[in-house]
Amino acid sequence: MTTNAAQLALKGGPKAVTADSSEQWKRPVDKEMALIAGLLETGAISGSGPGSGLPYEFETQFKDYIGAEYCLLTDHGSTALAAGFYAAGVGPGDEIITPAIGYLGTYGGALFLGARPVFCEPDPKTLLADPADIEKRITPRTKAICPIHACGNVCDMDALLAIGEKHDIAIVEDGAHIHGAEWDGKKIGSFGDVCCYSLQGAGTGGKPVCGGEGGIVTTSNRLYYERMLAFAHLHRSGVAGEFTIYPYTLLDSQALGQKLRAHPLAMAVAKVSLDSLDYRIENNNAFREQVFAQVGKIPGLQPEATFPKAKRISLYGGFQIIYHPEAFDGLPCTTFVEALVAEGVRAHVWGWPLAHLRKIYTEGFDLWGEGRGPLSGDFKLYKAGDYPIAEATMGQAITIPSYIEPRDDFVTQMIAGFQKVAENYRQLID
Ligand SMILES: Cc1ncc(COP(=O)(O)O)c(C=O)c1O
Repeated sequence: MTTNAAQLALKGGPKAVTADSSEQWKRPVDKEMALIAGLLETGAISGSGPGSGLPYEFETQFKDYIGAEYCLLTDHGSTALAAGFYAAGVGPGDEIITPAIGYLGTYGGALFLGARPVFCEPDPKTLLADPADIEKRITPRTKAICPIHACGNVCDMDALLAIGEKHDIAIVEDGAHIHGAEWDGKKIGSFGDVCCYSLQGAGTGGKPVCGGEGGIVTTSNRLYYERMLAFAHLHRSGVAGEFTIYPYTLLDSQALGQKLRAHPLAMAVAKVSLDSLDYRIENNNAFREQVFAQVGKIPGLQPEATFPKAKRISLYGGFQIIYHPEAFDGLPCTTFVEALVAEGVRAHVWGWPLAHLRKIYTEGFDLWGEGRGPLSGDFKLYKAGDYPIAEATMGQAITIPSYIEPRDDFVTQMIAGFQKVAENYRQLID
C-alpha cells in the first residue's frame, strides 16, 4: 500500500477523486427506439407465445443464452418468483426459507399462496444465504428454498441443490440480479429447479438485462414449466396445446385465468439489453476485480468472497467490501464511508432492511382479513435478536456502484481514496 499521509477531505483537505466519475457507457437508445417503432407501426403490442412476434423471439433468445430447456416471460420479477413458487407446489400452510437479508418482492408471491417465510442467516464472508443454516430450519412444512443471488454474487449451488435433493424440496432461485453468471461452467438458470429473473429498470441503473418492467423464469423441468404456464399465461398463443401433464391438460386457452405476461414494448428494450450483456459483464468484472485487488490489500477491508466454482457478475446493486471496525480502532463503517464520500469516492453503506424486523413479522398481519392468512393465527412473531449473524453483518460493508466503462483516472483515484481514508482514519477519531 502506498503511503498517503494527507488531510482527509472530511477535515478540509483536498479530495482524492477529481476525475469525472460518470459512467461512460451509454445504452443504445436508438436501437430500442427502432424496435419499438416497428412494433407500433405493425400494432404488434400485445400477445406472447409462439407466433406472437418479439416477446417469443426474446424468450427463445434468452432460453438459448442461458441453456435452459424452458423459458417464460412475465410482467415482473416478483411475478416470475410467484410463478416459481406455484411451480414448486407452494400452498397454504407451507413454509419457504429465504434470507433474512432479503427482499419482500422475492417471496411476496409465496405469501399470497398462503405460505410463511422462514428466514435464514447469511454467510458473513459472501453475504449470501448460508446453506448450513437453511438446512437447520427445514421442517415437514418446508416446500421451497429461495436463495437470492444478491448483487450478482452466486450462492453455493452445490450445497443448495444437495439440500434440496436430500429433503425433496425445490430450490426457487431469486436470480433478479444474476443474468449471465455461471456455476461450474454452466449458466445460472440452466440447471437446478427454477430460476426467476427481473427485467426492471433501464440502462446502468437497472437489472443486468432490463426493459423497464418484466420478468423471466427458466427451468428444465417440464412439470414446473407447465405449472408456470398455467399460473401466468392466460391466452398465450397455443397455450392449451402445450399442456401435456394432468391436471393441466384440463386447461384451455384461458389457462388458470391470470395474465402475468410481459409487455412487448418492454421486451423490445430488454432484447436490446440482452445483446450487450456479455460486453457489460466483461467490462464490469474487470472494474470490480481491479478494485477488489487493490482495496483488498488494505487491512480491515475485505472484498466479499465468491465461491471458486462461481463466475459472478455485479451489474446490479454494486459490490461489497466488508468493513472490519476493529482494524480502524472501532471507527464506525458509516463514518468511514462518510470520509470516502467526502474524498469523491462513490460509495455507500451496504444495507437491506432486515426482513424479520418488518412490522408485518414482528406484529403479524391479517393478510386475508378475519384472521385468515399465513401471518396470523399461530404465526410465531419475529423479534430483534432472532438472526444475530444477519443483524451483526448488516451495515458492516461498503457498496461500490457498478461501472461498465469508468474512466481510468477515476478508478485509480477512487482506489487512492480508499487508501487515503484507511491510512488517515485517526483524524476521524482524535
Ligand atoms: C432481489 C430481488 N428479488 C426480486 C425482485 C423483484 O423484481 P421486480 O421488481 O421485477 O418485480 C427484485 C427487484 O428489485 C430484487 O432486487
